Amino acid sequence: MTTRDQRAELLRDAGWNLFRLRSEDVMVDLLTDSGTGAMSAAQWGALMIGDESYAGARSWFRFRDAVAELTGFPLVVPTHQGRAAERILFECLGVRDKVVASNGLFDTTRANVESQGGTGLDIPCPEASKPELEAPFKGNIDVGKLEDLLSEQGPALAAVVMTVTNNTGGGQPVSMANIRAASRLCRRHGVGFYLDACRFAENAYFVQQREPAYMEASVKSIAQEMFSMADGATFSAKKDGLANIGGFLAVSNERLHQSIEQALILTEGFPTYGGLAGRDLDAIAVGLQEVVQESYVENRVSDVRYLGEGLLAAGMPIIRPPGGHAIYVDAGSLLPHIPPRHFPGHSLACALYKEGGIRSCEIGSFMFGAPEDQTGQAKGQDQAERRLELCRLAVPRRVYGRAHLDYVVDVAADVAKGRGQLGGYEIVEAPPRLRHFSASLRPL
Ligand code: F0G
Repeated sequence: MTTRDQRAELLRDAGWNLFRLRSEDVMVDLLTDSGTGAMSAAQWGALMIGDESYAGARSWFRFRDAVAELTGFPLVVPTHQGRAAERILFECLGVRDKVVASNGLFDTTRANVESQGGTGLDIPCPEASKPELEAPFKGNIDVGKLEDLLSEQGPALAAVVMTVTNNTGGGQPVSMANIRAASRLCRRHGVGFYLDACRFAENAYFVQQREPAYMEASVKSIAQEMFSMADGATFSAKKDGLANIGGFLAVSNERLHQSIEQALILTEGFPTYGGLAGRDLDAIAVGLQEVVQESYVENRVSDVRYLGEGLLAAGMPIIRPPGGHAIYVDAGSLLPHIPPRHFPGHSLACALYKEGGIRSCEIGSFMFGAPEDQTGQAKGQDQAERRLELCRLAVPRRVYGRAHLDYVVDVAADVAKGRGQLGGYEIVEAPPRLRHFSASLRPL
C-alpha cells in the first residue's frame, strides 16, 4: 500500500512514465493482460513433467499436438513470445518495400514490419472510429478498402494480418463473416492471410454471443473455424495461452515452414523448443485447452464487461461495447482541454496512479506520435485525424476479483470528478521508436 504523496513522488522519480515504476509500488496493475495471468493448478502440475531435452522432448510433442488440434496447422514452431513469431514471419515472407494490411496492427507488430523496410497499413471498419457507437464487431477490417487495395496493389502486398481481437481498436472482436470475406479476397489475389491470434478465444466467445449462426457452436469449434480460414498464425501465449511466457508461429505451407525453421535456429533456438523451456511448452499446451472452456471464457469476458459498465457509470467515456481483455477510456473526450500533443490518455493514466495506485497504459499520441509530430513509427498510418486518445485498463486473467474492480471504479469516479484539474504532459527525452516504453515526460 502506498499513499497519494508517496505515489506523486514515485511518479516523478519514474519520469512520469508508468512503465518505469516498480510493480511493488502498484496496487492494481492493469498495464497489460500479457503474461500477467495466474496459471491453473493443472498448468503448475504440467510444469513438473517438463522434459528439458534439447531435441525431440516429450514437452514439444504435447505442445505441437495441442497447437495442431486447435489451429489445424500441422507446421508449428515455438517462440519466446508473440513478437518473435511476427519478426520471423515478416522476415520469411519478405516485407521490404511492401505493405502489410490489417484491421489493426499491434505496436510491436507494426514496428516489426517497419524495421524490415515494409509499411503497416490499418484499414479498420468505419464503426471502429466511433467510440460511443454500440456495434457487435468493431474489430472488423474494411472489406471494401481491402478489395480496392488488393486489386490496385496486389503484388505490393506482403500479407494481410487479421488481429483477433483488435487490440489497438479497443479489444473489439472480428466477426466470422468478416474473417471469411477477407480470407476469400486474399485467396483470390494470391496474398497470404494470417491471424494475429493472441486473443482468439475471447474473439471466438464474442462470435458465439453475437453472430447468430454460431449461437449453438462451442468456443473451441469457432476458434478452429477461424484458424481454418488463414494461411498461418502468430500467437503470444501470454494472452490466450494462459501462460506467463511463450508463443508460436504456425503455417500450412511447407516451404515457408522450412525457412521459418532456419530463421528460428539463428536467434530463438532449435525447432522443438524455440527459446522456451520444455516446462513452458507444457504450461502452454494445458493453457490452450483451458482457455476454450466455456465457463472460463464467459467469466473472463463478463469481468471485463463489469469493469466497463462500472467505469461508464462513474462518468468515464469508454469505447463501447466493452472489449474482451480491456476497457479503453476515451481520454480525448474526458479531457477536451488537453490537446493530443499533450497526451490526454497519459494524463489520465498518471491521475489513476496518483489517486489510487492503479497502473494503466496510454494508447494514443504518446504511443504512436501526435499528428503534428509523426515519428517513423507512425508513418503510413493514415489515421492522424481520427486517432483516438485512449487510456487502456487491461485485466490480467484469473488474477483480480470483483472487489478489485470495484476499487478501480471508485478511484476512476474521483478522477472523473476532478478532471478539470488534470493537465497535459510533454516529452523530455525519447527514443525514435516505441518511445512510450522508456521516454521521460514532465507535467505542464
Ligand atoms: N499482437 C497483439 C495483438 C498484441 O496485443 C501483442 C502484445 C503482441 C502481438 C505481441 O505479443 O508481447 O508476446 O510479444 N500485447 C501486449 C499488450 C504487450 O499489452 O497489449 P508479445
